[in-house]
Amino acid sequence: MNFFQNIQSFLLIIILLFSFVNCQNIPNPRYQQTSSLIGNRLYVFGGDLSTTDTNNDSAANLTNEVWYLDLSSSFNTAKPPWNKDIGMPIGYIFGASCVSPIDNSVFLVGGRMFIPNTATNNLGSSSVYVFNSNSSVWTTPNIFGFNSSFKMRNQIQPVIDNYGKIYTFGGTNYTGFNKPFVNYNDMSILDTTSMTWSTLALSVNAPPPYLDYTATLLPTGIIVYIGGYITRSSLLYEPVSMYEIQTFNTKDYNWSTKVASGGATIDSRLGHSAVLTQNGDIIIYGGRIWNDTTVPATPYIAKLDTSSWIWSIPNLSQINSPELCFHSAALYGDYMIIAFGNYCIMHI
Ligand SMILES: *[C@@H]1O[C@H](CO)[C@@H](O)[C@H](O)[C@H]1NC(C)=O
Ligand SMILES: *[C@@H]1O[C@H](CO)[C@@H](O)[C@H](O)[C@H]1NC(C)=O
Ligand SMILES: *[C@@H]1O[C@H](CO)[C@@H](O)[C@H](O)[C@H]1NC(C)=O
Ligand SMILES: *[C@@H]1O[C@H](CO)[C@@H](O)[C@H](O)[C@H]1NC(C)=O
Ligand SMILES: *[C@@H]1O[C@H](CO)[C@@H](O)[C@H](O)[C@H]1NC(C)=O
Ligand SMILES: *[C@@H]1O[C@H](CO)[C@@H](O)[C@H](O)[C@H]1NC(C)=O
Ligand SMILES: *[C@@H]1O[C@H](CO)[C@@H](O)[C@H](O)[C@H]1NC(C)=O
Ligand SMILES: *[C@@H]1O[C@H](CO)[C@@H](O)[C@H](O)[C@H]1NC(C)=O
Repeated sequence: MNFFQNIQSFLLIIILLFSFVNCQNIPNPRYQQTSSLIGNRLYVFGGDLSTTDTNNDSAANLTNEVWYLDLSSSFNTAKPPWNKDIGMPIGYIFGASCVSPIDNSVFLVGGRMFIPNTATNNLGSSSVYVFNSNSSVWTTPNIFGFNSSFKMRNQIQPVIDNYGKIYTFGGTNYTGFNKPFVNYNDMSILDTTSMTWSTLALSVNAPPPYLDYTATLLPTGIIVYIGGYITRSSLLYEPVSMYEIQTFNTKDYNWSTKVASGGATIDSRLGHSAVLTQNGDIIIYGGRIWNDTTVPATPYIAKLDTSSWIWSIPNLSQINSPELCFHSAALYGDYMIIAFGNYCIMHI
């Protein structure tokens, strides 16, 4: 299929999956990477390359690779023309890349950061890395007032606003089986214009410690947290209902719960993706149920109208889209591009 073939449909999903390995311009399969659109380029940062045991954190093989796809010209989606960029100082999973609206630099804030291509016992030295996509140079900024409890914070999705402020909620410093960890429900703000860090005082309205959600910033300044799971006490986890959606207002720092409705039942999930359309709809894709790594959440695609908070299931132009977890999704024009990920199947 040609990328810019003119297909009249409500939503066209482009799936980029890879069955070839070890060619110079073909990335190995990976999951739990992060991705961002920078201009016309879709960048993919890091990911776990492990194929033997995708659910064993201690057997992860974190890559520092950076790949990008130029979307400004058409291409065959069966053979996407990937380009490899300069690698990151760290191997990276379970975080998110935020692109500065001011100068397009990319901020990796939190995430599991390890020495590349090693198992998970060699931690990276910083918690924030900055990428200048013009020069492909990575730097570790000096951050005024950095909160050291944020070290190794992961299973989070930071978002950046139009003023260059990055908001990160909750997460955990879990890095692998049998290692001590704490789950959090704090909101941290990194102002990238002054490189200052602040951790807000805990709000009574804030959700409990919260992991593996997606976070989507609306033009109104409200961050919408979807899916994932919470911990009310240290070892008691529960999935977050898709019908009680936590939102954080970046204008007054207030949390509130939006009660969503809709005809179909939308399963709670993690490992899903969320993109915001120009109409103010959030489209979620994929993911699995929270307590069984082999069960994909259904439906695998759903749309949330963020003015009415009503869920619906879009009609797809192609019905054979795979049920992915821990993939990347980006909206480019009217196209949702899905890349990498795994199949919610236990490989042991
Ligand atoms: C997970 O992987 C580590 C490192 O390869 C291994 O030592 C451990 O036995 C594995 N755990 C399980 C539950 O398979
Ligand atoms: C990258 O180049 C653009 C265009 O010249 C410029 O506006 C932007 O500030 C540059 N970004 C960085 C991080 O150097
Ligand atoms: C991690 O993946 C790289 C690239 O496929 C491979 O060369 C390396 O041997 C792997 N390392 C481990 C610890 O599995
Ligand atoms: C997580 O935080 C706790 C409390 O500060 C600490 O004991 C533990 O070592 C941290 N874990 C990691 C992987 O940094
Ligand atoms: C740093 O973060 C921890 C955990 O959220 C919080 O308890 C502490 O108050 C924060 N420190 C500062 C100076 O904000
Ligand atoms: C914050 O939101 C709650 C609803 O979650 C509302 O009751 C409260 O009035 C709001 N507070 C402020 C200061 O806006
Ligand atoms: C998973 O959680 C659901 C509730 O969210 C529960 O009904 C179900 O029994 C759990 N399954 C397993 C395998 O623990
Ligand atoms: C999907 O198509 C059916 C049949 O044409 C229609 O009834 C339904 O409203 C459509 N759903 C959406 C979300 O557009």
